[in-house]
Amino acid sequence: MYIAPSILSADFGNLKAEIEAICEAGADLVHVDVMDGHFVPNLTIGPVVVNAVAKAATKPLDIHLMVQNNTFFADLFLPLKPKFLSFHIEEEKHPLRLIDHIRSHGVGPAIVLNPHTPVSAIEHIVNEVDMVLLMSVNPGFGGQKFIPSVLEKALSLREMIERKNAKCMIEVDGGVTGLNVAQLDEAGVDIVVAGSYIFSSNSYEHSIRSLKLEF
Ligand code: DX5
Ligand code: ZN
Repeated sequence: MYIAPSILSADFGNLKAEIEAICEAGADLVHVDVMDGHFVPNLTIGPVVVNAVAKAATKPLDIHLMVQNNTFFADLFLPLKPKFLSFHIEEEKHPLRLIDHIRSHGVGPAIVLNPHTPVSAIEHIVNEVDMVLLMSVNPGFGGQKFIPSVLEKALSLREMIERKNAKCMIEVDGGVTGLNVAQLDEAGVDIVVAGSYIFSSNSYEHSIRSLKLEF
């Protein structure tokens, strides 16, 4: 299991040290939540802060857009060359065009599904992306309760990936803890995002290792 700590739950007054600490503690990716106050009822960080995050990070960025104007925001972050740049299918009329645009910048395109969006919505996209992110909470805030129906979605996405011989990874985001990660692993999930679970723990190394099922 790969671990992508969500910096939304980090101490923003101490952001550089927080990012350095999770990278040293075994994070595989640094998950960055960009919210615009329109697609979701919260507003987070823009290019000035994400640039500072990129400088501090020694692991690749995983940028999760929760915005209405995906292309405008993608263009702000593509120069940072994240490993993944993900956008929500619910908010994009021309997903294949945006996927091509992201890939043309040497960045891995990824698509996000809200908890209510069926996996069938990406039947004709799954071969074109590097990763599919399944939300296990309604996007907008850290610290929410895990929605267990994501397990069934992960299983059907895994089946779709195999049937279509696609190459993409599966990521789950929201309410992930040491108590549900084993079920996600069994359902075929490759990467988990975790915010409050890691940043509220006494030891980032310990909580990341528990998500990697190393105990
Ligand atoms: C929610 C964000 C998540 C969030 C996860 O909209 O996309 O990345 O920070 O936080 P936890 O792990 O606390 O649910
Ligand atoms: Zn996220």
